[in-house]
Amino acid sequence: MINKLAIFGVGLIGGSLALALKRAGYCDLIVGCDADVDRLCRAVELNVIDQFSTSPEEAVADADVVVLAVPMLAMESVLESISEHLAEGVVLTDVGSCKASVVAAAKRVFDGMPPRFVPAHPIAGREKSGVEASLEDLFVAHKVILTPDNGTDQAAIATVTRMWEATGAQVKTLGIEQHDLVLAATSHLPHVLAYSLVDTIAETDYVEQIFQFAAGGFRDFSRIASSDPVMWRDICLENKDAILDVLHKFQSNLKELESAIMQGDAGDLMETFVNAKTIRDANVMKHRVETE
Ligand SMILES: NC(=O)c1ccc[n+]([C@@H]2O[C@H](COP(=O)([O-])OP(=O)(O)OC[C@H]3O[C@@H](n4cnc5c(N)ncnc54)[C@H](O)[C@@H]3O)[C@@H](O)[C@H]2O)c1
Repeated sequence: MINKLAIFGVGLIGGSLALALKRAGYCDLIVGCDADVDRLCRAVELNVIDQFSTSPEEAVADADVVVLAVPMLAMESVLESISEHLAEGVVLTDVGSCKASVVAAAKRVFDGMPPRFVPAHPIAGREKSGVEASLEDLFVAHKVILTPDNGTDQAAIATVTRMWEATGAQVKTLGIEQHDLVLAATSHLPHVLAYSLVDTIAETDYVEQIFQFAAGGFRDFSRIASSDPVMWRDICLENKDAILDVLHKFQSNLKELESAIMQGDAGDLMETFVNAKTIRDANVMKHRVETE
């Protein structure tokens, strides 16, 4: 149980966390703080949060747990705004999609990683953003990855784990670097490719017809290009190295496919397609594919 939870950024993820914890009866008081006052008023109207404050100092006063659910590039300034006002023993966590950059920001602000800061990333989302898009069951049966290090306080890890479990999520742990590499491949690269595909099509003369006659493959593949551009801009900037690494591998693989198509090399095409299908079929059955 949490007495007072303070959430910075009451949008899709912050709002869904608040709703899920309310449904579970897990917090006595949920206070929101956001750069956009209209959104905070809307969040109270929708009964997503109990109260709001536009003062970071007031929002964190007496809070047991503080969650940062703001866009990646806003994490550091929010940490700066609260660093001097956190209650003794408060547990700090975030929901950011990349972990190395949040940890680096925390180290800069606090002059070292605070032991009671537990970095976290819920692997759940949708193409809409803002508090109106919040869902109380967004995290049910989805994974939440924690990336603590050797210095992270065990009790703080337990607090964050229990909070996410109360939303119906399954909590797992990964190293920071491993998290960023895995997410670059499974989430960040697919979003870059979807944006690039739709952007490429937008430059053709038959964009209308493409959407009019879109087959399931195009609909499935382009769906994530409807995601929030600000969020994905931030992720590309914040997880640059890991994304570039997997993007370069992808480009080289794509070049090989291009040359196989150019040369009519049926054997090469089959080898790549059969290999990809075998790996996907085997793993999708084993692990449910998450969305973000
Ligand atoms: N959307 C997803 O699929 C998803 C999934 C997992 C994690 N995340 C992470 O969650 C975080 C929030 O994403 P979201 O989808 O909820 O975005 P969102 O746009 O729905 O909500 C973000 C909220 O933060 C507020 N905000 C922006 N700058 C602020 C600041 N400086 N101070 C206080 N509030 C500020 C905005 O007004 C908005 O209400 C991001 O860090 C993102 O990487 C998103």
